[in-house]
Amino acid sequence: MLDIYIMGKRYQVPEGLTIQAAMEYCGYRLIRGCGCRAAFCGACGTVYNFKNDPTLRYALACQKLVEQDMYLTQIPFFPAAKPSYDLEKMEPTGEQILKIYPELLTCFGCNNCTKSCPQDLEVMWYMSDALRGDIKEVAIKSFDCIMCGLCAARCPQGLVPYNIALLCRRLYGRYVTPRSKHLDDRIAEIEEGKFDAEIKELQNMSLEELRQRFDKRKILKE
Ligand code: FES
Repeated sequence: MLDIYIMGKRYQVPEGLTIQAAMEYCGYRLIRGCGCRAAFCGACGTVYNFKNDPTLRYALACQKLVEQDMYLTQIPFFPAAKPSYDLEKMEPTGEQILKIYPELLTCFGCNNCTKSCPQDLEVMWYMSDALRGDIKEVAIKSFDCIMCGLCAARCPQGLVPYNIALLCRRLYGRYVTPRSKHLDDRIAEIEEGKFDAEIKELQNMSLEELRQRFDKRKILKE
């Protein structure tokens, strides 16, 4: 068993639990800040430190295992700046990115964003790609970002790297990558009503019938 502290109160929990599981073991019910439990949704970014060591560390609560004398607390969601924009009225350029996120110019390369990333992404590098207007590089390098917000929480200049990268991926998808022919074909099929009968049939099924249908999906057998 390990000693951990939640909001200053000491608990004993089995070794091998994640922060999330340890909090639940201690009786906390996690309703917010908890989603996929598998490092995909980015809902569980959290901070922790240790007895006699106040330095804050950052992690995903669903992945980080508890350690002896770990201090945990509940923290609010990271409410980072999220300007709204109309993708249809934009250009895929560096100037466009700076217009929406001018704080990008103030990055002085401390690398805190990279060090805080639970996905081990090279956040600072793709922020400099964004500054140069290399939207493709940002889109590729940030592809595995789960939008947990830890990079923004650590940036001393107030940058929101995960939203900047999201803008770049949107611009890349909208203006740079070629249009997908099979997607166009599928949209045309949907608009022609090719799947209407099947959708109607599904809508009229009971929950049990839907479950059986799901279990019989070919994809599960292959
Ligand atoms: S709960 Fe989804 S990333 Fe941790």
